[in-house]
Parts: sequence; structure tokens; C-alpha cells
Amino acid sequence: MDEKIRKHVLRMIPYALYVATARHGDEVAAATISWLSQASFQPPLVMAALKKDGYLYALVRQAGGFAVNVLGSGQKDMAAAFFRGGRLEDGKLNGYPVEPGPVTAAPLLVDAPAWFEVRVTDVVERGDHAVVVGEVVEVGLRDPEARPLLLSETGWHYGG
Ligand SMILES: Cc1cc2nc3c(=O)[nH]c(=O)nc-3n(C[C@H](O)[C@H](O)[C@H](O)COP(=O)(O)O)c2cc1C
Repeated sequence: MDEKIRKHVLRMIPYALYVATARHGDEVAAATISWLSQASFQPPLVMAALKKDGYLYALVRQAGGFAVNVLGSGQKDMAAAFFRGGRLEDGKLNGYPVEPGPVTAAPLLVDAPAWFEVRVTDVVERGDHAVVVGEVVEVGLRDPEARPLLLSETGWHYGG
């Protein structure tokens, strides 16, 4: 396989950007992620690939659930703020106001246009990211007019 072409071709898979969060007891984790997709209508499943050596993945395994904050077009700064994890201070996550998710208690970014909570059902630990499959157990829509922040809009890459 030609490695350069592999990179080019795999980077043609379109993605959006999200801030995934988890809470277990007093511990909170957050990370900007892109490798996410719906995986079933009934039950409503999603799958996310989470870096196996990341803190978010460790906490998701312990908590058994997580939240996905859907970022809106134009919220590139918010995406960039979660490349190095998340820190909860004075009720704010990396400086952004949050509220607890009703099911998972994972932080929900008040400024993000939409969110959903996931209860983990299955995990595949094959490569350097684990594929976490889970059922969508709660959703919220703060701005029905918002369009998602696409990876292509940012000029960043994650994939190849
Ligand atoms: C454009 C972009 C997309 C990313 N997508 C993912 C992803 O899909 N899954 C993932 O685990 N990490 C992804 N990351 C990396 C995480 O944002 C980063 O590892 C995390 O915030 C670090 O926190 P942690 O190690 O404490 O978990 C991405 C990074 C960038 C720059």
C-alpha cells in the first residue's frame, strides 16, 4: 500500500468536531474528538474512536457513559480549547460554562448548540484508538439553526 495515498484517501472521510466529556465521581475529562458516527437507528447507537492512552477514554471506561457536545460552525476556538483535555474550575470547563448532563453528569457546554449522552454498550480495543459503542440515552438542542463545525472548515486534519 502506498502510504501517501493512504493518508490522502483516508483524509477524504468527512468529519465534524465535538467535545466529548465524562464524569466519574469528582473526576472530569474532556477532549475534542472527530471520529464519531451514528451506528444504529434502533436502538439509537453511536460509535466514537477514543485514544486508548487518553484520560477521556480511561474515565469513560470507569463511568460507563459520556456526553458529546456538538460544536457549531464558527466555534473553532472552542474545539482548540479541548485538544489538551479538560479542567473544571469555578464551575467552568477550560473557561467555558457547563451544566451537568441529566443522565451521565458529564459536563455539557452551555455554548454548544446541541448535545447527547451515551451509555456505553461495547468497546473494541484493536488499534491505538478504542471504538466505543453506546446507546444515546438523552439529547438536547439549544440552537436549532446551528450548523455543525466541520473538520474541513478548520484546516486541521485527524486521520490518515
Ligand atoms: C482535529 C483533531 C481531532 C481529534 N479527534 C480525536 C478523536 O476522534 N478521538 C480522540 O480520542 N482524540 C482526538 N483528538 C485528540 C484529542 O483532542 C486529545 O488527545 C485530547 O484532548 C487529549 O486529552 P487526554 O489525553 O487528556 O484525553 C483530536 C485532535 C485533533 C487536533
